[in-house]
Amino acid sequence: MLDLFSNSRPDKQEIYPDLFVLANFVKTAPLLKEVEQIIEVSPFRKMMTPNGHYTGVALTNCGEYGWTSDRKEYRYSKIDPLNGRPWQSMPDRFKALAIEAALAAGFENFEPDACLINQYLIGTKLGSHQDKNEKDFSQPIVSVSIGLSAVFQIFGNQRAGKAVNYRLQDGDVVVWGKSARLNYHGIRTLTVDKLNPTCQQRINITFRKSH
Ligand code: SIN
Ligand code: FE2
Repeated sequence: MLDLFSNSRPDKQEIYPDLFVLANFVKTAPLLKEVEQIIEVSPFRKMMTPNGHYTGVALTNCGEYGWTSDRKEYRYSKIDPLNGRPWQSMPDRFKALAIEAALAAGFENFEPDACLINQYLIGTKLGSHQDKNEKDFSQPIVSVSIGLSAVFQIFGNQRAGKAVNYRLQDGDVVVWGKSARLNYHGIRTLTVDKLNPTCQQRINITFRKSH
């Protein structure tokens, strides 16, 4: 029977060439527990960037390499610049999820060595950018959404202009690669969810092969 009131989404949708949304792919409570342990050692922090501004979102990392930024450059580092220690290792659960999601979207042999964890509070956004600090663009990006929903925007090979917009929900995973690997993308300013007003933050976990 046609259910006019259901807002169910396809399990897998190619919302842009070579860019897939896996809707409600993972239960996020266990992921959040891992994040809580990671931030005890490497807390969320904003980082200075080469353009002289701090990142809008706070971030941390786990895995062999972590994405970092300072006034000079963006780079992957084995050391957390805040505490001078190696990043926490990537939890097995994270690595397995990244590989499983990549495979579900048709990307075989994903070998993530870096895991960036972004914290978005209400009112923050992530401007349009390319993920291009990695050495190997043949490997995909896998991005997991936790908590508050947010609108993901894909602009294609131009920084601005017409975008494909997609509201990511808790448990959604986005995977992109091949022709989409260097696409410009961003996150629109987060707003309160009227149906879930106590939810104040979105955590995004992105897996990459950096080296
Ligand atoms: C990113 O572009 O690195 C993160 C995207 C997101 O938060 O979903
Ligand atoms: Fe990105």
